[in-house]
Amino acid sequence: MNAITPIPSIIPETAPFSSGQRAWLNGFFAAYLGVSGEAAGQADAAADPEEDFPWHDASLAMPERLELARGARPARQLMAAMAQLDCGQCGYLCQTYAEAVWSGAEADMGRCVPGGKETQRKLKELLAALEPQRDDVPAAPAAKAAAPVGSRDRPALATLVDAHPLNRPGSGKDVRHVVFDLSATDLTYEAGDSLGVFARKNPQLVQAVLDRIGATGEEMVAFDGDALPLRQALLSKVDIARPSDECMLFLGTRAFDGEEALKLQALANGEGPPELADADLLDLLMAFPSVMPSLPGLLKSLDRLQPRLYSIASSSKAHPREVHLTVSAVRWDSNERTRTGIGSCYLADFAKPGDVIPIFVQKSHGFGPPADDSAAAIMVGPGTGIAPFRAFLEEREARGAASGKKGGRNWLFFGDQKRSADFLYEDQIMDWQRRGVLHRLDLAFSRDQAEKIYIQHRMQEKAAELWQWLEEGAHFYVCGDAKRMAKDVEDTLLRIAVEQGGKSAERAKAWLDALAKAGRYQRDVY
Ligand SMILES: Cc1cc2nc3c(=O)[nH]c(=O)nc-3n(C[C@H](O)[C@H](O)[C@H](O)COP(=O)(O)OP(=O)(O)OC[C@H]3O[C@@H](n4cnc5c(N)ncnc54)[C@H](O)[C@@H]3O)c2cc1C
Ligand SMILES: NC(=O)c1ccc[n+]([C@@H]2O[C@H](COP(=O)([O-])OP(=O)(O)OC[C@H]3O[C@@H](n4cnc5c(N)ncnc54)[C@H](OP(=O)(O)O)[C@@H]3O)[C@@H](O)[C@H]2O)c1
Repeated sequence: MNAITPIPSIIPETAPFSSGQRAWLNGFFAAYLGVSGEAAGQADAAADPEEDFPWHDASLAMPERLELARGARPARQLMAAMAQLDCGQCGYLCQTYAEAVWSGAEADMGRCVPGGKETQRKLKELLAALEPQRDDVPAAPAAKAAAPVGSRDRPALATLVDAHPLNRPGSGKDVRHVVFDLSATDLTYEAGDSLGVFARKNPQLVQAVLDRIGATGEEMVAFDGDALPLRQALLSKVDIARPSDECMLFLGTRAFDGEEALKLQALANGEGPPELADADLLDLLMAFPSVMPSLPGLLKSLDRLQPRLYSIASSSKAHPREVHLTVSAVRWDSNERTRTGIGSCYLADFAKPGDVIPIFVQKSHGFGPPADDSAAAIMVGPGTGIAPFRAFLEEREARGAASGKKGGRNWLFFGDQKRSADFLYEDQIMDWQRRGVLHRLDLAFSRDQAEKIYIQHRMQEKAAELWQWLEEGAHFYVCGDAKRMAKDVEDTLLRIAVEQGGKSAERAKAWLDALAKAGRYQRDVY
């Protein structure tokens, strides 16, 4: 949705902080507490309640977002460079991260994980271009208040119990059901929250980097005021999968071959050989054999490794001391090497049951099952998008929401590639249906027939009934792919409002906006 909730003003105006520091702290606490400006009942001084954020749509590409923000004030232009997910992975929301960067309170421009390098580069470019519009001196980076244990800045330590495959033979995917034991932590969570995981890198990749630079990994290095072995720093502290532009520039200064130095400089400017556009640190070190980096310089030039977020797939009422995730392992081949997604493959391949892993709970921004147990819930979650809806269904079952007296009906739309191999949580879902916890189940397996069948096709087939549920007050939820699926589902919902509700396209849009404002259209997309 384009309209976003304002950031609450949690830090009083009288508190001894600059406006930049206040913006940072408001964003930090809003993300940490999972509250919105509306929930706090106060409007942020920096946010005009009438202000529209047309670029705040994760399905838009960067150039479209920037075009929509053209002429807006600087912090809004910076906001348009973020991934627009408000996922909290960076420790802020898109709006507050942009405000903190513009005010100078946040110096790190590499915190937007879903935006990646594209966001980081654009932020730097925009900051340089917008500098003449600055009328005050940027604030010094804010000193961070001591964070509570279990937060992003001070994660809790949980034990990995299991990460078993959910797909069956014949699947093209590797999705895992991941279970953490929370017994040794004070962490609590609600259905709808996400879990932040601090992963460690592929140990073979780290070993190959160490071999290339002639290090054993036992060398003690300084990082964040601590001394730790180099291997440890490369595994868990810095991002060697996507070397920063600073890293490329640094490697350029350490190249003995002038041509290699020039190529590295070009790469840092987003130019250079296309085959190295997505290079990891090992690719660079191999492509430029004359480079011999110093260890402190190398570590300083790399971005920090950011945590990865996963929608929580369990209800704490059903699993009091556990938290579950549904994680799709991301792997692809490039330059004759199999690449492994940092967070997903850490959980799927490298971490072992019994390992202790730093995690935190990212409170949702209002994404959760209906508070009213008699309200109906329509849940659209293909692929790993099923995760929060497993949590919702467990939660609603534990609350007795779906029982005869309360009457909160549940309707699930699930889809994936092949029914025989990719029906995630099939036994549990079919059991819910048998026992009447799930009142309606619609499935769309895209690769079981010649033409693609997606969940939105099922929505369209059931349009009359779906409209009736919505007219009777149902909440509508979507989780999964932000770029294509969520947009197509929204378009289908709008079409249903036109066809079944007799609305014009404009009125259908206003109806959906009102549904979202009422908390009855919620999305958890990535
Ligand atoms: C709020 C939220 C909830 C989420 N919930 C879930 C969830 O429940 N389950 C889930 O599985 N994920 C979920 N995600 C996504 C998750 O956070 C990670 O983004 C995902 O696991 C990939 O991270 P990674 O560290 O494994 O991969 P990374 O190391 O970050 O690598 C992924 C990157 O690799 C590159 N890449 C991937 N494939 C290719 C290719 N074929 N060729 C070239 N480059 C490629 C792309 O640049 C891609 O961005 C969620 C994200 C958010 C923000
Ligand atoms: N940041 C990352 O690197 C990362 C990591 C993991 C997942 N993701 C993303 O997260 C999302 C979830 O991944 P996933 O593997 O669980 O599931 P997925 O790729 O979204 O696939 C689930 C089902 O949705 C179908 N689908 C494809 N396009 C669709 C559309 N426009 N509308 C409706 N359904 C559509 C797929 O069909 P077909 O496959 O047959 O087209 C498949 O049957 C994906 O978008 C994936 O790219 C991103």
